[in-house]
Amino acid sequence: MSPILSLLVLLLVTSTSAFTMTPPSTRGSSTALTAYNKVFVAGGSRGVGRCLVDQLIASGRQVVALVRKEEDAGLLNALEGCTAIVGDAFDQKTVENAMDGCDAAITTLGGSTADQGQRIDYDGNNNVIESAGILGVTRVILVTSIGCGSSKEAAPPNVFEALKPVLLAKEKAENILIKYYTNMNWTIVRPGGLKSEPATGKAILTEDNTAIGSIHREDVAALVIQALDAANTEKKILSAVDPSITSSVSMEGKTVEEFALA
Ligand SMILES: NC(=O)c1ccc[n+]([C@@H]2O[C@H](COP(=O)([O-])OP(=O)(O)OC[C@H]3O[C@@H](n4cnc5c(N)ncnc54)[C@H](OP(=O)(O)O)[C@@H]3O)[C@@H](O)[C@H]2O)c1
Repeated sequence: MSPILSLLVLLLVTSTSAFTMTPPSTRGSSTALTAYNKVFVAGGSRGVGRCLVDQLIASGRQVVALVRKEEDAGLLNALEGCTAIVGDAFDQKTVENAMDGCDAAITTLGGSTADQGQRIDYDGNNNVIESAGILGVTRVILVTSIGCGSSKEAAPPNVFEALKPVLLAKEKAENILIKYYTNMNWTIVRPGGLKSEPATGKAILTEDNTAIGSIHREDVAALVIQALDAANTEKKILSAVDPSITSSVSMEGKTVEEFALA
């Protein structure tokens, strides 16, 4: 994890009580097989993307993962149901060739504030979106971050400033989907501060763009798959947080309404 993203985690994860939530009437099922049986994943070498690869395979789907390093491809190719392709997401044609034949695309591509010039948070994600458009892959899930777009106010100002280049680049990718891909069934998932700990199973998606807090990477992956399968996540922008994790960020006393997947 980059030092700056570690900072976000540190700022989001400390003491005090978290927020409460109102329960949804229904929850999506992560095991229900849908039309999306062969899923392209960009960012699958580690973090949320790797959790996604594991969980998608566990749900009985095939995964095509685009990774930069041969060693990551070796690890993923050893998993039954996963085909890893070595390539750089900065190259649109590479992304398109890897995605060809898939019925859905998920991107968790992310970079660091230290990056200069092209940012994978925009250019890589844009290449995934553009490739999906070219290939007619109409189901796309873009994983960005709380602090992007309409959720800017949710991020504490010091966190927003520290992460600004990354958040703005991700927001630019979000806007491509929102403004130009009106025929696409897209969903944007904005997680809070990420932790690599076992799933709590208590994380939620919410349309409340003031929600802020922490969430474990395994739970983000599970929510992304639930969102993939749900019929009512088309053109939705959803924050992903875990009300069961204590956080220093002041959601105390606030009620966050869980988005009811259906
Ligand atoms: N850290 C946080 O607290 C936080 C909070 C909210 C949102 N997010 C965002 O949530 C997402 C998941 O975060 P994470 O920390 O679990 O994962 P991550 O460590 O940020 O993983 C980023 C992924 O993008 C891949 N990638 C970067 N540049 C690439 C390129 N040119 N070509 C192909 N792949 C490339 C990386 O591959 P390599 O292994 O080859 O580098 C890695 O698989 C990211 O978009 C992140 O920015 C993070």
